[in-house]
Order: sequence, then C-alpha cells, then structure tokens
Amino acid sequence: MTDINLDDFSIYRKLDPEDMLARIKEFPMQCSQAWQSVMKMVLPKNYSNINQLVILGMGGSAIGGDLVRTLVQEEMKIPVIVHRDYGLPAFVDDRTLLIASSYSGNTEETLSGFESALKMGAKKLVITSGGKLEEMAKVNNIPVFKIKYKALPRAALGYSFMPTLGVLQKLGFIQDKSADVAEIIQVLEKLSSKLDEKSPLKANPAKQLAQRLFGCLPVVYGAGIAAEAAHRWKTQFNENAKSWAFYDIFPELNHNAATGYSLPKDIASKIRVVLLRSPTFSKRIKLRYDVTCELLKQSGVAYEFVDSEGKSSLSQIVSLVSIGDYVSYYLALLYKVDPSPIKYIDYLKERLAKG
Ligand code: F6R
Repeated sequence: MTDINLDDFSIYRKLDPEDMLARIKEFPMQCSQAWQSVMKMVLPKNYSNINQLVILGMGGSAIGGDLVRTLVQEEMKIPVIVHRDYGLPAFVDDRTLLIASSYSGNTEETLSGFESALKMGAKKLVITSGGKLEEMAKVNNIPVFKIKYKALPRAALGYSFMPTLGVLQKLGFIQDKSADVAEIIQVLEKLSSKLDEKSPLKANPAKQLAQRLFGCLPVVYGAGIAAEAAHRWKTQFNENAKSWAFYDIFPELNHNAATGYSLPKDIASKIRVVLLRSPTFSKRIKLRYDVTCELLKQSGVAYEFVDSEGKSSLSQIVSLVSIGDYVSYYLALLYKVDPSPIKYIDYLKERLAKG
C-alpha cells in the first residue's frame, strides 16, 4: 500500500518540481500548435517523388514516427519504417524521404544515420529543437521543423508526431486530416478534465488505474492502431514511473505469450495486464482479446481494459497515449519518484560519450 493521496495537491509540488503534469496537460496544445506550424512549412517540390519514408529516432523522438505508421498503414501506399539504430538500412536510396527526429539534436544513433544520409541522394528533413542535428541540417540546406517547446523529449510528443503526419499530408500521401486534428483537440481537452489532478480519485480512471498498478508489473497489450500506443505506455511507465513495464501486440502475442502466463508463479501473481482497445478492431481481433482474457483468468493473472476515445483513428490513438501519460504520471507519484529526471538514460549517454 502507498500512503500517497493523489487528491492532496501538496504532493504535486513536492514530487513534481519540474511540472511534468503541465507538459502532459499541454499535449492538446502541442498537437494543435505543431499542426499549424507544419501546415506553414514549405517543402521542396521533389519531396513527393519518393517510394518510402524512413524515420530515424530513438525513445521519445521515435515513438511519434511509430504512431504515424500505425495511423496511416491502411491508407498510405508506400512503406513507413522507423529506424532505431546506428547507420541506415541498406534500402535507403534517393527515392527515400528520411526524417531525422531528435528533440535534443544530439542523439548519437540518430546523428550516425543522418551523417550517412548526407552522403546520399535521399530527401531529408529534420525535426529537432537544436543541437548538432540542426547545425548539420542548416549547413546542408535541409528543411528543419524547429521545436521551440521546452520539455523533456518524451513530453514534447506532439512536436514529433504531428509534423510527421503533416508532412505526409502536404506531400499528398494521406487525405486531409484537418477535421481529425480539430477533433483530437476537443477529445484531449475533455479527457484532461476527467484525468487531471483536479479530478478526484473516485471519478478519475487514471488515478484509479495507477493505484491498481502500484506494486505490480504492468504489461500493456495493443493491436492495430493501438499497438504503438501500448509501446508508449510501456516507455512512459519506464521513464515517468521508473518502473519495469512491458508491452506486446496482437495477434503475434497469441502465438507465444499465452504459453508463459503462469510461470514463474511469484511473478505471474504480480503482473497486471492492461489491454488497450479501439472500436476499429476487426471481429477476429476482438475475439482474440476475449480468448486471451479467458487464458489470463485461468492463469490467475489480473487484467483490465482501457478504451480509446473519439471517432477518428487519430483521436483514438492520441487519447490512448494521453490516458497512458496520466497513468504513468500518477504511478510515479505513488512510488514517490519525480517523474521528470531520467538519471539512468543521462548516465548511459555520458558514459557512452566518454567512450
Ligand atoms: C527523454 C526521452 C528519451 C529520449 C531519447 C532520445 O525524455 O524520452 O527516450 O527521447 O534518449 O533523445 P532525443 O529525443 O533528444 O533524440
């Protein structure tokens, strides 16, 4: 049990001195501002002459690319690949649009891929707040979507997700999403009023879920357009709540995960599976959710559902992301940890920089 009362406002100032909560609440504003800015961006004419999109990024700067990939996969006729590694895949060529996304502009994996791309004819675009990536882009006359919003990379998601989506629309690869963008702002704002700190525990599903996850190992399941939202939940549990967390995706998880539900026993009893749902799921996927829950129940593993909000796929994705951001935030407070610092990531980056 925790002695933290999520309805006591004094804990927010004490445990969250950098105000991560404000960044989470600003997600709708980030999306709207980033969308307006990308719509004003002028892209070179030949950028629509491509046959694949490759997004370079790591962590909080990569997930926006994956969310876009899941959103457009049924509409877009060319592949979208998110590359989270050093260098470039060998299939990158001069008909590739390469988006290098790094909030800091100094992430070595992303810089390594971008440096390789500079020697090639691929069409390039950069999303960053500065750093070496911006410098390299400027020297090479590469268009930059400049993030002016001050936040930790994962807390500036609107500024990597929306520009990528907007670029695809501007280049004519997807239909006009302006109406869906207007919807997400409404959906997210409504959601915030239900999930923010002012909404008391008894009426606040995010605070309640965080309480149920306290002391558990969260495993987040997703499918289709909710697959990468599950990924985001996992990373937010890691980075905000400083907790172990895993995610898995339907239908693939039905071909392996279920066989391991009951062992080791002391771990199985500590797991809580959160299944993210969207009305866009096919009948077969819905059935898979049902049968999987039967198996979880038989194995004594706790589970529950979280449903997306809104009509459009875009709203459903971002609503799931936003709910997860709140839950991971409250879980951090329950664990009495500051959600902002990521000491271990900073340590790794420093050690790696020293060689
Ligand atoms: C930190 C975070 C990290 C970073 C990652 C890459 O809030 O989310 O996952 O996003 O270490 O750094 P950037 O985004 O600066 O390229």
